[in-house]
Amino acid sequence: MKKILFVSSEAHPLIKTGGLADVSGSLPKALNELSQSIHLLLPNYQGLNLTDPVHHRCTIRVNNCDIHILETRLPNSDVVVWLVDYPAFFDFAGNPYNDSQGNAWHNNAERFSLFCKVATEIAMDRAYLHWKPDIVHCNDWQSALVPALLSLEEDRPSTVFTIHNMAYQGLFPAEKYQELNLPKQLWHPDGLEFYGMLSFIKGGVVYADHITTVSPTYALEIQTSEFGYGLEGLLHHKQYILSGIINGIDTDIWNPESDEHIAQHYNKENLENKTINKTALQQQLSLPVDENIPVFGIVSRLAEQKGIDLILDSLPDLLSMPLQLVILGSGHHSFEHRLHNLIALYPNKISVTIGYDEALAHLIEAGVDVFLMPSRFEPCGLNQLYSQRYGTIPIVRKTGGLADTIIDALPQSLEDNTATGIAFHDANADSLLEAIKRALVLFHQKDNWKALQRNCMNKDFSWKNSAQQYLSLYNEL
Ligand code: ADP
Ligand code: GLC
Repeated sequence: MKKILFVSSEAHPLIKTGGLADVSGSLPKALNELSQSIHLLLPNYQGLNLTDPVHHRCTIRVNNCDIHILETRLPNSDVVVWLVDYPAFFDFAGNPYNDSQGNAWHNNAERFSLFCKVATEIAMDRAYLHWKPDIVHCNDWQSALVPALLSLEEDRPSTVFTIHNMAYQGLFPAEKYQELNLPKQLWHPDGLEFYGMLSFIKGGVVYADHITTVSPTYALEIQTSEFGYGLEGLLHHKQYILSGIINGIDTDIWNPESDEHIAQHYNKENLENKTINKTALQQQLSLPVDENIPVFGIVSRLAEQKGIDLILDSLPDLLSMPLQLVILGSGHHSFEHRLHNLIALYPNKISVTIGYDEALAHLIEAGVDVFLMPSRFEPCGLNQLYSQRYGTIPIVRKTGGLADTIIDALPQSLEDNTATGIAFHDANADSLLEAIKRALVLFHQKDNWKALQRNCMNKDFSWKNSAQQYLSLYNEL
């Protein structure tokens, strides 16, 4: 049995801004079920959706501040959660990283470097918790200083750093380095310095004993200038300790047979019940109710990464086709604004919901026929996995985890029942429209469509395989 400290800045259902939370909420559960002793470390944000009792475990001094460690459980699981409680940094309403205008909080460097220092104290068993992990598993820039700080310690646990998204690196002005009181030995171009800036993510990439990312294809992509954001050379140099492990999904939360947010449960034997969800969705969003019109859905952060501009560019053509389009998203104000303007123009064809809505996200997965993910890059992507489980056919751009988890519907893959979606190559509106036209043709070939839905629903995207891969990695270390 391994003792694992899993360090993350978000975990569903406690707090979520995106897929990192889905992974940090479900991988620890899966490892726990594989009989590992896992503790999840999170900041004690004001907005945590706590269900279990919380109690004080200890108080430590870091940066001359008193930091409390609180203990609770991850809802619906046995996973112990430790919360780093420092009200001045974490006890306020809103998003963990940005203000309501989408600007990063002014003290993010202070907030997350403190979080990393506390994680390091716990990892070295200096926090009066009487528990020393064998492995410290960190995720994304917010916890990336931990491998760097641990590299200075003797008799330290092994470290794993998982990159969920290279586009977010935690870059701050060099002056911050001294203010944060970080060890001098780590400040050099082969350390935490990145062209004169402080780079949190380099703490993980340079100092972790092993680096993973969330799909095999993305592990290769980030070694190129297109996807590496200036760290491609370093990542290539580290390729011998860099691997891709595809994300699993929480099959309890995303299950059309028991989903509490959908209108009618169904499975692959009674797929006709999926239509009841389509009707409920059309009614809820005030779209004409018609089971024969194909409904396309998007649930996404509205960010450049997600190819929202491709959708906007293709909309005039798209909306001249016989289909409906349902969009749920929040993010960049310019995207929100442009999408909003469209509702007035095409009220019977498009529904746009700006905001974050967990229940609607589930109903969309269950109710639409096709899910769109035209991402410019996608480290893994989870909605194409949820879609397959819900018999909803994904259209994806062939990149990162989307390339690894979707088999394009071509004559051969339709024939041998391996097809699970539609994939296109080029990041432009024409290619996306071409893929949508292919989907429309298939949608009206009822037998082919049903077969495609069944292929999707036969896939196993549970954590079973991937959690085992993480465990093998921990054992090797
Ligand atoms: P990323 O982490 O890059 O945003 P993923 O596909 O890995 O992308 O995960 C996104 C997660 O966030 C999914 O669980 C998705 O359903 C959810 N999500 C994204 N936007 C919204 C929204 N506006 N409302 C509800 N859920 C959302
Ligand atoms: C990131 C990526 C997404 C991935 C998620 C969880 O947010 O953008 O592709 O699925 O992390 O690993």
